[in-house]
Amino acid sequence: MPTLSVNIDHVATVREARKTNEPDPVWAATLAELGGADGITLHLREDRRHIQDRDVRLLMETVSVRTNLELAACDEVLAIACEVKPTLATIVPERREEVTTEGGLDVAGHPQSIADAVHQLHDAGILVSLFLDADPRQIEAGMQAGVDAIELHTGPYALATASHPVASHRAADHDTPLRKLQESARQICDAGLTLAAGHGLTYRNVGPVAAIDGLHELNIGHSIIARSVLVGIERAVRDMKQLMKGEP
Ligand code: PXP
Repeated sequence: MPTLSVNIDHVATVREARKTNEPDPVWAATLAELGGADGITLHLREDRRHIQDRDVRLLMETVSVRTNLELAACDEVLAIACEVKPTLATIVPERREEVTTEGGLDVAGHPQSIADAVHQLHDAGILVSLFLDADPRQIEAGMQAGVDAIELHTGPYALATASHPVASHRAADHDTPLRKLQESARQICDAGLTLAAGHGLTYRNVGPVAAIDGLHELNIGHSIIARSVLVGIERAVRDMKQLMKGEP
């Protein structure tokens, strides 16, 4: 079974909707650890739409499992990564207008700038992964960049399963994205790199991806945080009513 790194960005998204101090992603990371998370993933975006610099610094001090900092290959965020030293840095593409990371990194199109970022992170003692589509050309270019790991983008698989909710367990409906993931997984493992995967994985569609041969880790965020909101609501309402009654 692969390990699970829980992405806590969405906790910060709720906080930033009000520009207040709760919910705190640092607390969320501690609770995720208590729940068995093998790692904590966070994305420091250039536009700081969810995770803030303060979160990164506190998380690096308090998380006791592995940390995975997602970042664009831009000087400012690379410098922060080199200073705070997560266990792993995952280079992702970033566009300001996107809702979330859309598509894998185009390492084949920008080999030199990615290789430079990889060297900079390696020099700081940080392991490096690239977030790539299940595309043999991109994976080959990723290997040339000298990375330690590759995270496969499971978004197309997630979309295929979401658009066929009733038939999602029938292989024919989503076997192309799944097969591409399996083939790319083999390419990555055969090269001796660590294999991760993530994006859009849910309680319904995670099974076939978790079963991919050689998979080391899954990065899952939105679905886990979405479920936490729902499974926690009864308790939260009860706690508020108790306080309203003057009970501690
Ligand atoms: N992996 C990468 C590189 C991501 O950018 C994200 C989203 O932040 C995830 C995994 C997790 O995706 P999701 O929130 O859909 O589980």
